[in-house]
Amino acid sequence: MILTTESPTNTGSTMADTILTAQELKQHYRVKQGFFKPEATVKAVDGVSFTLKKGQTLAIVGESGCGKSTLGRMLTMIETPTAGAVDFEGHDLLNLDKQKQAELRQKIQIIFQNPYGSLNPRKKIGTILEEPLVINTNMSQAERKQKALSIMAKVGLKEEHYNRYPHMFSGGQRQRIAIARGLMLDPDIIVADEPVSALDVSVQAQVLNLMMDLQDELGLSYVFISHDLSVVEHIADDVMVMYLGKVVEKGKKADIFSNPQHPYTQALLSSTPQLNADKRRTRIKLEGELPSPLNPPNGCAFHGRCIHANDRCHTETPTLQSQKNQLIACHAVEEGRL
Ligand SMILES: Nc1ncnc2c1ncn2[C@@H]1O[C@H](COP(=O)(O)OP(=O)(O)O)[C@@H](O)[C@H]1O
Ligand SMILES: [Mg+2]
Repeated sequence: MILTTESPTNTGSTMADTILTAQELKQHYRVKQGFFKPEATVKAVDGVSFTLKKGQTLAIVGESGCGKSTLGRMLTMIETPTAGAVDFEGHDLLNLDKQKQAELRQKIQIIFQNPYGSLNPRKKIGTILEEPLVINTNMSQAERKQKALSIMAKVGLKEEHYNRYPHMFSGGQRQRIAIARGLMLDPDIIVADEPVSALDVSVQAQVLNLMMDLQDELGLSYVFISHDLSVVEHIADDVMVMYLGKVVEKGKKADIFSNPQHPYTQALLSSTPQLNADKRRTRIKLEGELPSPLNPPNGCAFHGRCIHANDRCHTETPTLQSQKNQLIACHAVEEGRL
């Protein structure tokens, strides 16, 4: 993927204020396994903490099934966590009265991966964009249309698109529409759940560039979810790597990419294509599959796929420790065996 410029907000400044803090967030689902079997618990997210800085991008990466979307649904108040806390500019999001919750919900918007599924095919773009205004504001029809047209212009859509239906657009344009819809209520935070994963690589870069431009222009903070590390290399300020519901590595984008420390991060990075030959890494193959969260391994959840695993890794769950510039949950790193 070729991206033109790095936006100035992506220099990883540590001066930025915190806009959102998640503390020990958990989402444990009770699931039925069959008629005669007892219910089991899926620990989709199991104790995740992070801070999001104003105007910056936190990327959440990890293989499919590691809990990224579940985390996104909790941050946007679509789901209530089993445990933990979320602070958004001094507000405890999990303990709000109905009115305050409705108000703050508008400030944290989510954009989904699939722009085909998330746009109602029977509605015109103008109607789709104005829906959040109809529900949440007292704006007149004329005001709503004006707002829709101004946001459409910001995301690179034309005025004549207002009366068209979603199927008349390409994948990239549909994702622009989805982004526009997310912006209609002037949010502070956008949770983007795999926003470019369904798009052709050439179109991915355009949408990522658009998102970075919008971030600069509107001062947005992003939680950017992706299974693909190469997608977040340009847009992220901070990167958090998840494995089976837990954070295994967290740090500044530059540190994660130049010095990945957790064996899982190293494996993820070596499996992403690198255009630049100097940056090509020795391939660490990621063997096997993500274990089932219904029956997670003891100790470190990654031990079954890790060439550095020893007895301790089979029995004792590692916790996040400060190692150089990152936080890492790995016994091998902690013991200096890597
Ligand atoms: N509503 C649900 N009920 C039961 N299990 C769920 C539910 N939603 C997600 N899961 C499970 O939680 C785990 C994490 O899923 P998800 O958050 O979608 O991961 P990701 O977005 O990283 O692919 C998966 O094992 C998934 O099957
Ligand atoms: Mg997902």
